[in-house]
Amino acid sequence: MILNPHVRSLAPYTSFALLMAAIIAVGLGHSRADQSKDSAGARKYEEGGNLFRARCGYCHLAGGTGTIMLARRLGKDRALLAERTDLTVDYVRKITRTGINGMPPHTRIEVPDSELDLIAAYIARPAAARAAPAPQPPPPGPGHE
Ligand code: HEC
Repeated sequence: MILNPHVRSLAPYTSFALLMAAIIAVGLGHSRADQSKDSAGARKYEEGGNLFRARCGYCHLAGGTGTIMLARRLGKDRALLAERTDLTVDYVRKITRTGINGMPPHTRIEVPDSELDLIAAYIARPAAARAAPAPQPPPPGPGHE
């Protein structure tokens, strides 16, 4: 049987195409892994947020005694725990167990460590995990007076 010379001349391209396909597949695998890592992080913060609202929201959402007392002690912009960016995981864990001023200590029965870890991670979540700020209106342009 005579091999079609046309087919043979395609061979280098075929292996090049295979190589490219392999590179693309590896690349896709990577971005898929990153995505699932991101969504695992997002799920963790979502769960932490739900636990925060369930276990701490009674005092730490708008209008709660925690919010009111923190506004008095630290000022309005540090009153809502979930919007603070100055709290660390360790501080939140410690305060939850020991209490502070008007806040009663929470035992491991009330809030197990596994829940507290998620709540603290949520409160101390990085800026990237917070909702994007509302878009600002464009600055007034010339000729719109
Ligand atoms: C019964 C009401 C109540 C509940 C429930 C409660 N807190 Fe508090 N919390 C307070 C009050 C009141 C303060 C403010 C005390 C003060 O004036 O220093 C406070 C303060 C704090 C602070 C200190 C903030 C700072 O800047 O020093 C942290 C952290 C905190 N709470 C975390 C939590 C977490 C996490 C939970 C849920 C597991 C929780 N709290 C549940 C009432 C509560």
